[in-house]
Amino acid sequence: MLTNRVKGVEYAIREIAAVAQEVAKTGKTVYHLNIGDPVTYDFQTPEFISDALSAYSRKGKNFYANSLGVIELREEISKLLKRQNLNVSTDEIVVTSGVTEGINFVISSIIENGKELLIPGPSYPLYINYTKFYDGKPVEYELDEQQDWEPNIEDLRKKITKKTQAILICSPNNPTGVLYGEKKIKEIIDLAGEYNLPILSDEIYDQITYEKPYVCPASLAKDVPIIGLNGFSKTHLVTGWRLGYLYYHDPENKLEELKNGIAKMARARLSASSIAQFAAIDILRTPSSHTIDMVRKLKERRDYSYNRLRKIEGITCVKPNGAFYLFPKLDFEELKKWKDDKELVVDLLKETGVCLVYGSGFGEYGKGHMRLTFLPEQKILEKVYNLIEEFLK
Ligand SMILES: Cc1ncc(COP(=O)(O)O)c(C=O)c1O
Repeated sequence: MLTNRVKGVEYAIREIAAVAQEVAKTGKTVYHLNIGDPVTYDFQTPEFISDALSAYSRKGKNFYANSLGVIELREEISKLLKRQNLNVSTDEIVVTSGVTEGINFVISSIIENGKELLIPGPSYPLYINYTKFYDGKPVEYELDEQQDWEPNIEDLRKKITKKTQAILICSPNNPTGVLYGEKKIKEIIDLAGEYNLPILSDEIYDQITYEKPYVCPASLAKDVPIIGLNGFSKTHLVTGWRLGYLYYHDPENKLEELKNGIAKMARARLSASSIAQFAAIDILRTPSSHTIDMVRKLKERRDYSYNRLRKIEGITCVKPNGAFYLFPKLDFEELKKWKDDKELVVDLLKETGVCLVYGSGFGEYGKGHMRLTFLPEQKILEKVYNLIEEFLK
């Protein structure tokens, strides 16, 4: 017995992990470059953060927290947003169990009955899954590989219909690593304004940028409502805590009904983790040298990875300027042995133990690509690129 709704759920990032498990059983070393979790590599949770979590538990903060989030934490988040020139009050912030829950809250509140959500293509699979789960239609607008994966605004415009509920942007982007330029963000905001649509902005990688500075979409929007989604997972190396938040930039009070709906959803699931929330207050009150260190290391790994990958025949690759992914294109004129990205990635895993994600797991625009994370240490990356190079020969 299983609903069609659940039968339809796919998550390539974790599905490839099941194949990896089989490969590991044969005694082969598996190199995991499939999941974007820094804590499983050499980026460890800072001690003061782990200490805070256990201290709050010992201090008895083990109760159900306020459904919208511990108030002191929302105050700290409000101050954090203020540093990006945003005036967001504590009652316009909802603490969630990760961005994942925030996305669920928003999509479940705006999508039903064939309604459409515009999402970037290639797309982080969660947006596709939740939209379909709530009986809606995910519509991908093109991120243009020829333009370093910047959004194609004309394509976006063409895809707006009467059923469109919102435009989602994700910058820095998973899986392409692109940081949308300020001009593109403004164009998307203008388009949203023209069609009276809200913007959903997934900002989970906002602190992980290399050359160009991060531009917060809400700081550019005068009247267009934006729902920002962010969290602690990546920036503060606590992926397993499941802690995030959403905030409303809503200067003309257009989101009142939605805000009430999301508050109801939040109450219905009681609360996000209490001790994680208390510890997060300490995190936000402490300078984030761990994030700066992580980004410095990641930049070296990005440079190394990009330089290796672009020299491998049959692969072309855009240099990412944010997040920690590469999304190379596979040239099947050269790589005639395989029929598509999935076949190649599974074969690569079985032959070499290198575990990546097939691009088609990121929607239509992901086809013919593969995604890998450059989180591992250089000595592992070296081994991995040697193996890929040898395999594709
Ligand atoms: C674009 C994007 N959004 C959201 C998430 C999930 O974040 P969280 O751990 O806060 O649920 C991820 C995780 O990889 C992601 O890449």
